[in-house]
Amino acid sequence: MLVRLFSTNTIHNHIMNPETSLTVNAGVAVIGMGYVGLPLSLQFAKSGVPVLGIDIDDSKVTRLNNGESYIRHIDSEKIREMRAGGLFEATTDFSRISGVQAVIICVPTPLSKNRDPDISYVLETGRAIAPHLTKGALVVLESTTYPGTTDENLREVIEAGSGMVAGKDFHLAYSPEREDPGNPDSKVGEVPKLVGGLTPACLEKALALYGKSLKNLVPVASCRVAEAAKLLENIFRSVNIALVNELKVVYAAMGIDIWEVVAAAKTKPFGFMPFYPGPGLGGHCIPIDPFYLTWKAREFDCATRFIELAGEINTSMPAYVVGRVAEALNHLGKAVNGSRVLVVGLAYKPNVDDERESPSYRLMGLLKERGAHVSYYDPYVPVIGMTREHAEWAGTRSVEWEESVIRSHDLVVVATAHACVDYQQLADWAACVVDTRNAMAGVKTADGKVWKA
Ligand SMILES: NC(=O)c1ccc[n+]([C@@H]2O[C@H](COP(=O)([O-])OP(=O)(O)OC[C@H]3O[C@@H](n4cnc5c(N)ncnc54)[C@H](O)[C@@H]3O)[C@@H](O)[C@H]2O)c1
Repeated sequence: MLVRLFSTNTIHNHIMNPETSLTVNAGVAVIGMGYVGLPLSLQFAKSGVPVLGIDIDDSKVTRLNNGESYIRHIDSEKIREMRAGGLFEATTDFSRISGVQAVIICVPTPLSKNRDPDISYVLETGRAIAPHLTKGALVVLESTTYPGTTDENLREVIEAGSGMVAGKDFHLAYSPEREDPGNPDSKVGEVPKLVGGLTPACLEKALALYGKSLKNLVPVASCRVAEAAKLLENIFRSVNIALVNELKVVYAAMGIDIWEVVAAAKTKPFGFMPFYPGPGLGGHCIPIDPFYLTWKAREFDCATRFIELAGEINTSMPAYVVGRVAEALNHLGKAVNGSRVLVVGLAYKPNVDDERESPSYRLMGLLKERGAHVSYYDPYVPVIGMTREHAEWAGTRSVEWEESVIRSHDLVVVATAHACVDYQQLADWAACVVDTRNAMAGVKTADGKVWKA
């Protein structure tokens, strides 16, 4: 696929004209100060665009205004710099929207209990901003969602609440986030950004806004193309991860190590991209977003078999890992029931503190159901907070990384391979390790101590 990338300069030359250019002084309101909204706010402020960060969570607003970060990979110093430079303020007050020319929405888009899309946060935000929106303002949705959310659902609530017409009285666009938390090489300002507008003028206005701060903008034909492209990116990951997870099981039965296979295959310089197996999917995106499309596809009588199959395979991985735990314990003459099992890594990916949808919870739940005494170690999640999904673990604390603690367990499962963990120590101290991430590949260990899963 050929994507034409436009540099910021090209875009400025291409679209800047007196009608569409934004007054920098007016600034931008970013709604939802989470993993997406906060780094985006910092990016704008770094480029000199004043940002009003709006969130319904009082405690986040207070911490931000005190120059304090609550996301591990975001430095508090950066927030303090923005504050000191007068470029950032957080608030819960939606009436402040009347003072800005652009609003970017970065609120959650989870699945409901029945695994249907829950766009209520987006719609609530639309309703909250509508009465305060000024004529000519721009609204951009960044939350991941199904095609049609921006130009149908969000548009409807804003039009109803503001009495204005999208594309005529205010501008509307969609631009998906491509944040890669925990990847030090991923810079928000450099990742190409897709932008789709309701009308050509909406697109121009949105490009003008992002062009102030981001280097590579990719204009696309419509909001729906941008929404669909974001889903394609995440479905692509989900399907490919499912493929290697399936191959992991098949190759393991044949006595072949999937990690060695992927390492070998990826030497092919074209037509192959490596994906790695694991204990299941985690995070706010890959386990959730594909099902936004599945749901929407039903409206058009279309099946989404790849998505469903990938979901099925990925969802079965924690049970596969627990099967390997049982095998390894059995080998030691022990049962899962009554054994002390330590799960290393609660966050869903390495080097971050985000444990939403983490497969570690599923692992811990399955092990507990089978009678194991389960604890976890994660330096980035010292204590498990209260959530609707994992209420039974709320208040549970990470164990300390000490020889006596590791030795007190019958088996350790490496669920997430944080770089800060000393895997040689783990090999030396643990009686048995079930490794779902190939974290033990480079360490010296006794034969039969490490079980891949
Ligand atoms: N986290 C990622 O890596 C990532 C990457 C790409 C896309 N996304 C998408 O971006 C969106 C946001 O994800 P996130 O990870 O930043 O979520 P998050 O939970 O970290 O942050 C969302 C924030 O929105 C706030 N919020 C909720 N409802 C609100 C409302 N009505 N008004 C104002 N604030 C409200 C919450 O208090 C929270 O601070 C989702 O659609 C997600 O799928 C996330």
